[in-house]
Amino acid sequence: MPLDADYDNFHLPSHVGIIMDGNGRWARKRNMIRTQGHLEGLKTAKKMVKVASNMGISFLTLYVFSTENWKRTADEVGFIMGLVKTYLREELNFYRENHIRIRHAGDPQGLPLEIAGEIREVCEATRNFQGLSVILALNYGGRDEIVRAVRRLSAEGRGEITEETIRRHLDNPDIPDPDLIIRTGGELRTSNFLLWESAYAEYVISEKLWPDWTEDDFKSAISDYQRRERKFGGIRT
Ligand code: IPE
Ligand code: IPE
Ligand code: MG
Repeated sequence: MPLDADYDNFHLPSHVGIIMDGNGRWARKRNMIRTQGHLEGLKTAKKMVKVASNMGISFLTLYVFSTENWKRTADEVGFIMGLVKTYLREELNFYRENHIRIRHAGDPQGLPLEIAGEIREVCEATRNFQGLSVILALNYGGRDEIVRAVRRLSAEGRGEITEETIRRHLDNPDIPDPDLIIRTGGELRTSNFLLWESAYAEYVISEKLWPDWTEDDFKSAISDYQRRERKFGGIRT
């Protein structure tokens, strides 16, 4: 398929979610260990934050680690958690310079204490920034998020259970639903990403593995999204 990186600056998706998949396969293809793939994937993630920020996108959710990813070896899990910690520390100046706000989606309670602490600090340090918001989905599962939302709602012991009251108890109720969800690595599934919020998201699947993903690929996904007709269950008028 030809790459069409020409997108319309005036009709950007407000919220883009990315399932950053394919790090392990990228490493295997090069006879490297899986963790090398995660290291390379982190470089791509940093690039995409810059690209989204320069384009003027408001919200970017990155699927970093799912509630199911704990099934991996202790070595791999430990490596990913270490990367998250270094990333947050190293990039703080960059966030400040670019007014980037960092937020978290997922259950902080299941995270190692120092990682949860690091996230809390960086979210606090960047909370007043008005540029791009980067939401790190870490120890995140869509089902888990819904369960935690319903628990919080029922613990309040008042009010009705409606779509609106559940929505208001999700991890980041003030953030609009994703307009576009990109999945790299070619798999045709959600893998538990933003289940509630993605009800009417447009999907773009790329065969490319995440460490190979480029600025042009991102722009081409935006342009692909802009050619879709969104109907939200209605009919064309
Ligand atoms: C995505 O890459 C990163 C995480 C899930 C943490 P994978 O590690 O799943 O890479 P593949 O799918 O095995 O290639
Ligand atoms: C989804 O990728 C999770 C992240 C990218 C963090 P997985 O590699 O975990 O998904 P499955 O196992 O292929 O469905
Ligand atoms: Mg994978």
